[in-house]
Amino acid sequence: MKYNIAVLDGDGIGPEICAGAIKVLQKVGQKFGHEFTFSHYPIGGCAIDLCGDPLPQETIDGCLASDSVLLGAVGGYKWDNMPVDKRPEKGLLRIRKELGLYSNIRPAKLWKALAKASPLKYELVKDGVEIIIVRELTGGIYFGERGTGTGEDGDYAWDTEKYSVKEIERITRIACELAVKRGKKLVSVDKANVLESSRLWRKTVHEYCAKNYPQIEVMDVLVDNMAMQIVKNPAQFDVVVTSNIFGDILSDEAAQVTGSIGMLASSSLGDTKRGLYEPIHGSAPDIAGKDIANPIATILAAAMMLRDSFDLVQEYAAIEIAVQKVLNEGWRTADIMEDGKKQVGCREMSRLIAEQI
Ligand code: IPM
Ligand code: MN
Repeated sequence: MKYNIAVLDGDGIGPEICAGAIKVLQKVGQKFGHEFTFSHYPIGGCAIDLCGDPLPQETIDGCLASDSVLLGAVGGYKWDNMPVDKRPEKGLLRIRKELGLYSNIRPAKLWKALAKASPLKYELVKDGVEIIIVRELTGGIYFGERGTGTGEDGDYAWDTEKYSVKEIERITRIACELAVKRGKKLVSVDKANVLESSRLWRKTVHEYCAKNYPQIEVMDVLVDNMAMQIVKNPAQFDVVVTSNIFGDILSDEAAQVTGSIGMLASSSLGDTKRGLYEPIHGSAPDIAGKDIANPIATILAAAMMLRDSFDLVQEYAAIEIAVQKVLNEGWRTADIMEDGKKQVGCREMSRLIAEQI
């Protein structure tokens, strides 16, 4: 089969980690007889430099013409003081919206070989941790009305959190589909003791599950308590569904619990098979171009693309096993380095993983 992949390298370490994932995909192609073609388009800061827009129309068209999209990361010091619409992050938020990708799945998995890299006590993580955070991605406060003004107390600014029943139901459906295949348990995170939007969230999740997935046990956890529980006992969680902002915050926390944010991939999907796959970490401008970034999150994101957009389950597994083998052999990038292990750079780590396929 032929697959046309749009690659949005982005800024900072983006190009290096995407190159690593492409190397691994090419090896999968050779091994399993698929033809992957890669078309690169600008996004984020580099797109601002190129044409003054963090998401040029050419990039949107390229993504729409592709079978799926691989993204590195966006952002950097250089663009930190740009006006809102000319910030690299805006490009990422807009491409998610343009492609209708309302569902962001972020699996935080502790790899056995990296149990010691977790900042938590070994007893808390020794039996494994796998928290699948299902984050709503195109609604809520990141997309709500906002503004600035000047009043009696001087300058002010405001943002709004708004969710419709339809938006809550469609993300709940995605989480339920995952939960039925796993432990049939779903944790829904909100702040219903304070926020009106959270009260609607909670009510909708319960009504939707009771009607459509009665076999799933739904538990509500307040977001502040959730932040605490993730470090207190991360093994208690399986599938977690939450809003855009809470999912953004909690997925970074869950990632760190599993050792390094450099290991975590994510998929963003909507109602079609075309998705956007990216590491959950950022562009790390401080280490860009030094060949020390960890490419594994992006490589695993590419694997998720094979599974979730192209239904290539065996090929997905081949990448996962290759990563496992390389870690078991003791190869590490700087972020997950421990005494007695062998440190390699981004390029070499990618080559080692490709070699195992
Ligand atoms: C993420 C990032 C983005 C987000 C930023 C860069 C817009 O933090 O993918 O988690 O908030 O979604
Ligand atoms: Mn984030």
